[in-house]
Amino acid sequence: MSEKLFSIKVFGCQMNVYDAGRLRAAMSERGWRETENIDESDCAIFVTCSVRDKAEQKVLSELGRFKASWERNKRPRIAMIGCMAERVGAELPKKFPWVRVVAGPRQLGAVPDAIVDSCENGGLHIISNEDPNARCDLSCATAPHDNPHKAYITIAHGCDQFCSYCIVPYVRGRFISRSPDEILVEAERLVKGGVKEITLLGQNVNTYGRDFDGVRSPYRFADLLRDVSSIKNLLRLRFTTSHPVDFSDDILDVMSRGGNICPSVNLPVQAGSDKVLREMNRRYTRAEYLALIGRIRDALPEVSITTDLIVGFPGENEDEFEESVSLFEEVRFDLAHTAAYSPREGTPAAAREDQIPGRERARRLVRINEIQTNISREINRSMEGRIFEVMLDEAAQKGECLLQGRTATDKVVLVKAPQEMSGSICNVRVTSSSPWCLEGELL
Ligand code: SAM
Ligand code: SF4
Ligand code: F3S
Repeated sequence: MSEKLFSIKVFGCQMNVYDAGRLRAAMSERGWRETENIDESDCAIFVTCSVRDKAEQKVLSELGRFKASWERNKRPRIAMIGCMAERVGAELPKKFPWVRVVAGPRQLGAVPDAIVDSCENGGLHIISNEDPNARCDLSCATAPHDNPHKAYITIAHGCDQFCSYCIVPYVRGRFISRSPDEILVEAERLVKGGVKEITLLGQNVNTYGRDFDGVRSPYRFADLLRDVSSIKNLLRLRFTTSHPVDFSDDILDVMSRGGNICPSVNLPVQAGSDKVLREMNRRYTRAEYLALIGRIRDALPEVSITTDLIVGFPGENEDEFEESVSLFEEVRFDLAHTAAYSPREGTPAAAREDQIPGRERARRLVRINEIQTNISREINRSMEGRIFEVMLDEAAQKGECLLQGRTATDKVVLVKAPQEMSGSICNVRVTSSSPWCLEGELL
């Protein structure tokens, strides 16, 4: 039988990147080879996202383009995996008959065999389980990442926060922490294989281990951070995402001991107004959030803090939006992931009648982005002339002989350096900056 080819296209967040890495490993174990060329693949795996309508539209337009080749030679077949597959996947084969496997993020373990079977026998596999606690996980570890120096590890699945705008708890299911042993074994294996930087992933990493209470002796995120950070030859350890409600001082204690835990925190605020925060079900006030920022900065003076923010949440009036603007001006985040609110069917916020018109949401997005761009520009400019340790990890997308790396605080730095230096940590003097990255010279 001829060798079978698969390709993988990842949409959405780092959790999908991690899931794609494990699917890649599982398909290779079954003797399949990966190709970059979707059109020549026997099966194209789409690891999809549902967080906003735009994310889903992107996938739909990609799916549409396979009509002609499917009608001509019945390939490639598409495996729809991930959050969008969980939300609307079962409907897709009716419209796009080349979608032959559908499985949400909790059913990853069943996907490789379903793909093989579908290719051999032509069957349609719609794999689902309504129980939000049920998981059929892939037991294999993630395959080497696109970047051999860095890897992700998901430490907890799902989310129990139910922010009123968010689809994630419905598609990813309940919050379930992976066992510390499993995570440590995976991290050690990655480091032995040459990985130098690990990022621990979860929708709310700070609640890691809370579901162990009463089942095993207490073991929390701070314990996991300490244990993973002590793996020999691991140069950098990062984590994301932190929920402000659960960012406890024991995490700051572990981080402030220095070592390889990077002083960079992504702390989504989502809104600057107490009324909007309450209606989002975020469970903290603006004052509590600001107090936490103060505690983080006191404990980690060099820290960089990034955030996520939604503009145009239902009912958000102009004054409430301006409270987001003033919060940005007060905190001065290093970077912000901003988005216009996108109604997600089935979430409480989507059912509200006081939706903000699309044009107004877009206007607010432009305004907040202008404010943040200026702040990022000023912060980055203040780094010019200073020297930082940069882990060079890949070729820059533009520019000859340029390598791209990151400071411990997660700032992107472009440096003229030979390819062989990729994977090493070097001292770099920052020579120029833009709101999005720094340029520097090797010392
Ligand atoms: N767990 C993280 C947290 O607590 O903020 C965020 C995870 S979510 C997958 C990533 C980001 O998408 C959120 O921080 C939020 O800003 C954005 N997001 C989620 N739902 C959204 C919606 N309905 N419309 C616009 N942006 C949304
Ligand atoms: Fe969504 Fe809120 Fe969970 Fe983040 S914490 S994934 S925003 S429900
Ligand atoms: Fe998207 Fe699912 Fe991540 S909705 S942002 S891929 S958790």
